[in-house]
Amino acid sequence: MKGIILHGGAGTRLRPLTFSGPKQLIPVANKPISQYVLEDLKNAGIEDVVIVLGETFPELVQQHYGDGSRFNVCIKYVFQGKPLGIAHAVSLCRDLVGDDSFVLYLGDNLLQHGIRRYLEIFLEGNFDAFILLKEVDDPTKFGVAKFEGNRLAGLVEKPKVPPSRYALVGVYFFKPIVFEIIKGLKPSWRGELEITDALQLMLEGGYTVGYSFVEGWWLDTGKKDDILYANALILDGHIEREILGTLIESRAEGRVSMGEDSKLVNSTIRGPAIVGKNCIIQKSFIGPYTSIGDGVEISNSSIENSIILNNVTVKDIDRLEDSLVGKNAKVSKNNMNAVKLHVGDYSEVEI
Ligand code: TTP
Repeated sequence: MKGIILHGGAGTRLRPLTFSGPKQLIPVANKPISQYVLEDLKNAGIEDVVIVLGETFPELVQQHYGDGSRFNVCIKYVFQGKPLGIAHAVSLCRDLVGDDSFVLYLGDNLLQHGIRRYLEIFLEGNFDAFILLKEVDDPTKFGVAKFEGNRLAGLVEKPKVPPSRYALVGVYFFKPIVFEIIKGLKPSWRGELEITDALQLMLEGGYTVGYSFVEGWWLDTGKKDDILYANALILDGHIEREILGTLIESRAEGRVSMGEDSKLVNSTIRGPAIVGKNCIIQKSFIGPYTSIGDGVEISNSSIENSIILNNVTVKDIDRLEDSLVGKNAKVSKNNMNAVKLHVGDYSEVEI
């Protein structure tokens, strides 16, 4: 059994952060999203992993994951370049996957309880393909399953009139026969080779396509609010109290993780929250569901439900909430009654 992690795509909905790195490397609770994916594969017993790289700083992905030995897995890379579709990305892995079955895991998808139990069902059922489904409020944004009774009868990509409310989760299990099926695909209206079309062809060709409904939460972290939500859920479920830094006239309440050489001065942090290394937080309040990277300076401010990446400075901001602040950014208040901005292309600022 092998694993394929998709690390390509354009990530337009996460600009400007995706001007300096792929979206799958954006940290949630101070760990890149795709690292949760890799750890989930490893936890399910999969140690041979192929990472598909896109055009957005692929070298950063290789720098972070290397040959995989740091994560006790073996990682090989394939370069996709332009996002020509998920099925296209899979087709590039043919030689590295060989005649093994494999899990295809979109590098920006997170599952509360991981994939292990579904991998078991796939293997026990001897399916040609196996998909995961989750009921969603707005199925028009996803690949959607069509049922006849309990039988999976079809799959449609982003339908205008959804045949059900069950969306395709970004984790798929395949036997290598799917490589042959993908060869027969034509690009969709959006110019991509769609994995949904490959599954549809498998259903029409009489191959066995099994499914499970996902228990627990599933997140597709394609937009800022999804990332903040993932951050809150992961801080809630995974952060334990560990204070390696120094507290001076300060309080860290509840499940707070604070890295080495970080200092909290005349401040309060209320967990669940995480602060990286070498941060200085003075006269400030850090509220629940906040992740602060390394080398961050915060003074005279209050921050809640936010992600602050490495080397950011926040000064004199009364209430910073529901925010995602990119690396090396400076956020401060001036003494005049004016808003002064120096923001990157495609930034969103709410004042
Ligand atoms: P999407 O989120 O659908 O696409 P995107 O990354 O281009 O995002 P946006 O719409 O904001 O521009 O892709 C789903 C996942 O699959 C994501 O992890 C990126 C990955 N992917 C590839 O690796 N190669 C591809 O060709 C495509 C289409 C997606």
